[in-house]
Amino acid sequence: MSGHLTGKNIAVTGAGNGIGRGIALACAAEGANVVVADYGVSLDGHDPSSEVADAVVAEITAAGGTAVAVAGDVSRMEVGQQIIDTAVDNWGSIDGVVCVAGIVRERMLFNMSEEEFDDVVAVHLKGHFTLYRAASAVMRKQESGGSLLGFTSGAFVASTAQANYSAAKGGVVSLTRSAAFALRRYGINANCIAPTAMTRMSENVPFEIEAGAPEDIAPLAVYLLSDAAREITAQTYTCTGSRIAVWNQPVEVREMTANTDGVFTVDEIAERLPVSIGHEEMPMFADLERRMKEMAEQKAAEEASS
Ligand SMILES: NC(=O)c1ccc[n+]([C@@H]2O[C@H](COP(=O)([O-])OP(=O)(O)OC[C@H]3O[C@@H](n4cnc5c(N)ncnc54)[C@H](O)[C@@H]3O)[C@@H](O)[C@H]2O)c1
Repeated sequence: MSGHLTGKNIAVTGAGNGIGRGIALACAAEGANVVVADYGVSLDGHDPSSEVADAVVAEITAAGGTAVAVAGDVSRMEVGQQIIDTAVDNWGSIDGVVCVAGIVRERMLFNMSEEEFDDVVAVHLKGHFTLYRAASAVMRKQESGGSLLGFTSGAFVASTAQANYSAAKGGVVSLTRSAAFALRRYGINANCIAPTAMTRMSENVPFEIEAGAPEDIAPLAVYLLSDAAREITAQTYTCTGSRIAVWNQPVEVREMTANTDGVFTVDEIAERLPVSIGHEEMPMFADLERRMKEMAEQKAAEEASS
């Protein structure tokens, strides 16, 4: 890799660990000046430390690159602003923002506390808003526009024990699509990556996932930040490192209109909906059943051998 981001100024949140660290290192290796933004927290969002962001800045600098650390909580408006200001004050512009910061608080919906819901949504969803908001205000005035890159998850479709995370990641997709829709006229593109990689976040997933090293997500991120991808916007890409897939755009697939008085009654809906438009199968139900079966078989095998 070299030179795909020469002269660009890029902020990466969650850049202290895992996927974000890989993207920050790759952006610097590709010629970008990088704001390494990371609060240095545990997987569930506790015990902040500025050493985590500083360590990645030291790595970039040792390799001959340029980087500055910001060790704040991305769910706070002033931290989003500080991250963008750091790029503008040091290098004169902000060309790309990559929102990778995230935490997890796993719990079944019926046991989840308000705090577990609010904190996860704040870091993921609001943590995108704070950066997109501050960056787009600068980018719309730049002749060169800019790129917004969000991090969602395949779990945006649904999750059994992480309704907070799933809701936040669905919000990230809609927020990013709205950014793409509103900001294209200013030369700003906005896309999402739904990654899988072996990191501290994925190591406790109770089933096998298709995942490689955290650094393997960086090439797609670099491409989406580069001038070669300027026309690509409002997309969500799965990336496992060895496989990239594009998600469809949500659209209505079938419709029916009311027969009587232009308005549906309950009885007309009950009669016509099942045969006329029906419902859409949720593919994840089949996955879930398969996983539950595998886990039950594994447990039975373990019990038999102990
Ligand atoms: N690893 C996977 O397989 C996977 C799968 C789907 C989605 N994702 C998403 O990819 C992103 C990166 O995941 P990862 O596996 O590299 O996680 P990670 O835990 O290795 O890294 C996350 C980083 O975010 C930082 N962070 C957390 N809260 C923060 C806050 N409030 N402000 C600033 N920084 C904060 C942490 O300090 C940490 O360095 C996350 O958004 C995650 O939801 C990962």
